[in-house]
Amino acid sequence: MKISTPTSTTQETQDLLRTATRALIEAGIPDGRREAETLIAHILNRPRLDLYRADALSLDPDQREAFAGLIRRRASREPLQYILGIQEFWGLEFRVTTDTLIPRPETELLIEAVLEQFGRPALPITLVDLCTGTGCLAVTLGTLYPTARILATDRSPAALDVARSNALRHGMAGRIEFLEGDLLEPLASISLHNRIDVMTVNPPYVPAGELDRLQPEVRFHEPRLALNGGCDGLDYYRRILPGALEFLRPGGRLFLEVGIRQAIPVREMAEQSGWRVDQIKKDLQKIDRVVVLKKP
Ligand SMILES: C[S@@+](CC[C@H](N)C(=O)[O-])C[C@H]1O[C@@H](n2cnc3c(N)ncnc32)[C@H](O)[C@@H]1O
Repeated sequence: MKISTPTSTTQETQDLLRTATRALIEAGIPDGRREAETLIAHILNRPRLDLYRADALSLDPDQREAFAGLIRRRASREPLQYILGIQEFWGLEFRVTTDTLIPRPETELLIEAVLEQFGRPALPITLVDLCTGTGCLAVTLGTLYPTARILATDRSPAALDVARSNALRHGMAGRIEFLEGDLLEPLASISLHNRIDVMTVNPPYVPAGELDRLQPEVRFHEPRLALNGGCDGLDYYRRILPGALEFLRPGGRLFLEVGIRQAIPVREMAEQSGWRVDQIKKDLQKIDRVVVLKKP
């Protein structure tokens, strides 16, 4: 099969793309060509594939300047998602800002685990997403469980504003209760003890000593509050595991995302706190990524 190069852009646009691609690759971004195309398509307000099939596309002087600015930002290793303001999760588009973690594909495993373990009950259930960030888990669960009561919490008011805007974007403005506060504390304040059926949490879990070794996109741009899991990365699990038990109904489930080599210590802590371990799910890299716990 012949691999085509863009033939529908003007020669000038192709030259721009080539220069931009080189700048991104030199900055250490291996997929520079695709990212340059994505940014030019963003400036033109067209789908990227239009570069290959639309009528000759060219940029006016203002657009050229804007494109050069975006390439400079990306070459300084600002994440593409922050530049575009968007990340896809479970097939839905979520607004992202520097106040929120960029949702990761492996976090979709939490949604898969909820569906596998809990099915789609027609009964109104109560779902809580702790540490909601963009609200990607809460909003996605809202689309999958249309009769559920859904609550989402975060300590960052700025992240909660983004989560609220994502709920609005997906027609769920009135359906999700957003609560600001430290971990489980907002749930205690509205007396949710023994009333939650499903709790999802993707907490900060990067060990503090590893933060400065992360790739520049994460290290310099994503919020530390969303990353730093303390000395060994397990601080949040130490607090969530004993605390969450009193909020789940008997038989209710807690779905935790964990980092590399954290599933075993989290499992041990969970058992010591009185949880039953239901399942540990691996991600595509075969890393134990989701721990599913059941309240006896
Ligand atoms: C790893 S991010 C997860 C965001 C989102 N759930 C996702 O999966 O993309 C962790 C989130 O926890 C929030 N957070 C950090 N410490 C917290 C605390 N003590 N109480 C509540 N939320 C906290 C951060 O603001 C951040 O939004």
